[in-house]
Amino acid sequence: MPKIVFKHGSDIAEVDAQNGETVLEAANRNGVKIFGGCRGAGVCGTCCVIIDSTRYDKLPPISDSEADILDALSDTDSSFRLACQVVVSDELDGAVIEIP
Ligand code: FES
Repeated sequence: MPKIVFKHGSDIAEVDAQNGETVLEAANRNGVKIFGGCRGAGVCGTCCVIIDSTRYDKLPPISDSEADILDALSDTDSSFRLACQVVVSDELDGAVIEIP
């Protein structure tokens, strides 16, 4: 069961995530609030998070639609992903995910 550390400002929470759920689901199921305006449909961009650089390259490639949403947001760079589009796997064990 992968452990993910969520950071939001000075708040830090380590949670047990389940393979196959999204990062958004893992956060919210464990009481870490990430707003998901479209409820995980991947169209609103409100769930963007910053993935730690040691894990980013191990994630499945970003889809064109996710890239389009992130490109439309200001103040994002290549370390951002949509929490509702990143599926938890063992590759995320120990990852630090920042909620901007
Ligand atoms: S919840 Fe809307 S893009 Fe993730």
